[in-house]
Amino acid sequence: MTSINILFIGDVVGRSGRKILKDKLPLLKQQYMLDFVFCNGENAAGGLGITADIAGELLNSGIDGITLGNHIWSQKVWLQQAAHFKQVCRPLNAPDDWPGFDHVYIKKDNYDVLLISLMGQAFIKPILANPFQVIDRMLSKFKEKYHTKNIIIDFHAESTAEKITMGYFLENKVLAVLGTHTHVQTADEQILGNGTAFITDIGMTGPANGVLGMNKNVALEWAMNLLPATYDIEKDSFTMLNAVLLTVDPNAGQAKKIERIQIFDHVFA
Ligand SMILES: [Fe+2]
Ligand SMILES: [Fe+2]
Repeated sequence: MTSINILFIGDVVGRSGRKILKDKLPLLKQQYMLDFVFCNGENAAGGLGITADIAGELLNSGIDGITLGNHIWSQKVWLQQAAHFKQVCRPLNAPDDWPGFDHVYIKKDNYDVLLISLMGQAFIKPILANPFQVIDRMLSKFKEKYHTKNIIIDFHAESTAEKITMGYFLENKVLAVLGTHTHVQTADEQILGNGTAFITDIGMTGPANGVLGMNKNVALEWAMNLLPATYDIEKDSFTMLNAVLLTVDPNAGQAKKIERIQIFDHVFA
């Protein structure tokens, strides 16, 4: 059986997230003989959103495709920049007139991957179109257009039940359904059906000591005083990289194995 290896890195948060990604990716590529590397970049710019410079930096670090999420427009400049980045996609179930691309298609050597982002509807804003109905309608159109069997869904959602339901909804229809957004890696990685890799959440890549990447003092202030506080990223140098490694039969479009990865380091030491 031919097999390829795909790494998907959880939400990259701020400068320390980008730094650990850049530091570790060459080693990970070598160690796992990676064919494709993807990441969620919705928090890459100071914890909120993305910009052209930062998207370029991630792509230059060796990322093949970037998904986004509810923080997509936190850096308003991205509204003008998104259309220039074919390797970065917005959620597919967003309004049609949102700038940018609604999927990423990558072909390397003899293998290809179609990357799609969907946003959930429970406890997350903005509430986009029903992701189940949208992917149900669009999947056959994408398969017809690209003739690829290797479709990876980043399901950016808060509710664990909604994410697990999406896993079963797309079982045997796609290569992987990988959850993002909660920033906490879950221990439920599994292969659904005959080869759909699933995890409720990949986790995050950035400050390991904050609250989901946020400065813990700001989070404590919010919790105690219930008064407005300004978002600030956690500056501590202790940083983590969370990802999942997929071992894939690309000709069958089936995932054979999904493995969780967690790496810790002091990136600014
Ligand atoms: Fe995030
Ligand atoms: Fe998010």
